Amino acid sequence: MNHIILIGFMGSGKTSVGKQLAKVMQLPFVDMDELIVQKSGMEITEIFERYGESHFRELETECLKELSKDRERKVLSVGGGLPVQSRNQPYLENMGTVILLEASVQTLLRRLKYDSSRPMLKGGDLQQKIETLQEQRKAEYEKVSDVRVVTDDKGFSQIVDEIRKIVECVKN
Ligand code: S3P
Repeated sequence: MNHIILIGFMGSGKTSVGKQLAKVMQLPFVDMDELIVQKSGMEITEIFERYGESHFRELETECLKELSKDRERKVLSVGGGLPVQSRNQPYLENMGTVILLEASVQTLLRRLKYDSSRPMLKGGDLQQKIETLQEQRKAEYEKVSDVRVVTDDKGFSQIVDEIRKIVECVKN
């Protein structure tokens, strides 16, 4: 399949970049977290609070499996924890080009400072949480991605342009 799949840490810009990229490439855009919210009728924070992280991870995998059957080309953005689960990796690899959006801890900190929608970052020192989680996830992100795009100091349009060119190259 030839979907364009955006992965990366929370705050790396997957949703914003994905929306713009889809527009430019005239493809449908699907944000996996949004799909989970629609299907479950609950916000992500509520799913975590009521049923815990492992239940959320099950929902993610279910959603991914379902999407993996959809053959219409799309731009997909998936939650920051999805690529880390080994059971999800074969799906991502078969679904298309996986683009890793990278951002430094300082950039992520700036983007996530006032955010309260991410249960994985709740409580404690934000910088330390980002550093620890990013360190734990880095190798899996790199393993599953075909291309890495550094997003620090770049506007969304520039990132979108970069990805569009990469995807064209992969296709040709
Ligand atoms: C998570 C990232 C979130 C969302 C959930 C868990 C994670 O998505 O799936 O809060 O474990 O990194 P974004 O990466 O879109 O913020």
